[in-house]
Amino acid sequence: MAQTFVFIWLLLICFTNLVSSLTQDFSFVGFKRAAPNLILTGVTEIANTGAIRLTTDTQRVIGHAFYCLPIRFKPTGVNRALSFSTSFAIAMVPEFVTLGGHGLAFAITSTPDLRGSLPSQYLGLLNSNIVNFSSHFFAVEFDTVRDLEFEDINDNHVGIDINSMESSSSTPAGYILANSTKKELFLDGGRVIQAWIDYDSIKKMLDVKLSPFSEKPKLYLLSYIVDLSSVLGDEMYVGFSASTGLLASSHYILGWNFNMSGEAWSLSLPSLPRIPGSIKKKKKKISGLILRVSLLCSLLIIAGLVVASLFVGKKVKDEDRVEEWELDFGPHRFSYRELKESYEWFWGQGASWFWWI
Ligand SMILES: *[C@@H]1O[C@H](CO)[C@@H](O)[C@H](O)[C@H]1NC(C)=O
Ligand SMILES: *[C@@H]1O[C@H](CO)[C@@H](O)[C@H](O)[C@H]1NC(C)=O
Ligand SMILES: *[C@@H]1O[C@H](CO)[C@@H](O)[C@H](O)[C@H]1NC(C)=O
Repeated sequence: MAQTFVFIWLLLICFTNLVSSLTQDFSFVGFKRAAPNLILTGVTEIANTGAIRLTTDTQRVIGHAFYCLPIRFKPTGVNRALSFSTSFAIAMVPEFVTLGGHGLAFAITSTPDLRGSLPSQYLGLLNSNIVNFSSHFFAVEFDTVRDLEFEDINDNHVGIDINSMESSSSTPAGYILANSTKKELFLDGGRVIQAWIDYDSIKKMLDVKLSPFSEKPKLYLLSYIVDLSSVLGDEMYVGFSASTGLLASSHYILGWNFNMSGEAWSLSLPSLPRIPGSIKKKKKKISGLILRVSLLCSLLIIAGLVVASLFVGKKVKDEDRVEEWELDFGPHRFSYRELKESYEWFWGQGASWFWWI
């Protein structure tokens, strides 16, 4: 009942556009009928389960979903950014297990039209023309690829971005238990993660919390002292942006609460829409990858055997001389990062002949 009321109320204000400055809070538990309240650009669409699919797992695409009306972030005639509070549920489903990119961001921008922005490490938030020009924006990024250009700390972090993709503050993704223990969370692990962002305009403090559960944790993951008065304009748009690069994930928003007049409600995760995308399709893709990799391996092994037999033939003649190449072929373990890096390189450089196989 209450939700229906909120929905009708939203429709009214979005269509009449007369009382935009009165928008104090909104709530979406799924987005099935929310299209009139949102501005969707890029490849973004509302999936049939009711989730916003910001991007598919296609390479180098961007997508945005913004609330259709600007939010008043400063009282009339006063240059002080007001407190705000938001909670939302995200999910990132990588094209291949644990190899996803590039991430998504909650953003507050002066325009909801970011269609000219760049994919990959820019997360669809900036384009090359406005990288330097201090286009006023604030974002909290959920980044799954390490970009050295922006001094990212790792390939699974949460960062606060102010007018720049180089985070003012960032930390590995995780959540803090009541006894202050930090538990790691894999952003592109394909599961639902709830995030809370609270800005306190008196303490000038911005807190970010994450959790795989419905309850808001007591302790923050990331806290940053900042006065957003110089960053935010009087009226700004709030929403989400995501992008893919050579590595790609499907990026989803499953629910969203936003509040200018108090703490945003937490989302009850079981009441949210299902993450779309058939498991079958994913399995097929993975088995396709395995097939290609095993074919490639067999070719390498055959080539190796041919080379080895040549050497063995030679060795029988030359007695038991240890060849230099034998030492080079000792056991070598690859770290996950090495694999991920060579994978990125591979799709960038070697993909053409690989697909030929
Ligand atoms: C951006 O700023 C950097 C350093 O301030 C400068 O080297 C670069 O040329 C600028 N790029 C553009 C497009 O203005
Ligand atoms: C904190 O609590 C978790 C579970 O509630 C437990 O597994 C962990 O060992 C605790 N850590 C400390 C330092 O007490
Ligand atoms: C916003 O905060 C007010 C005051 O605490 C509360 O009454 C309202 O239900 C909240 N709305 C949302 C969507 O969180």
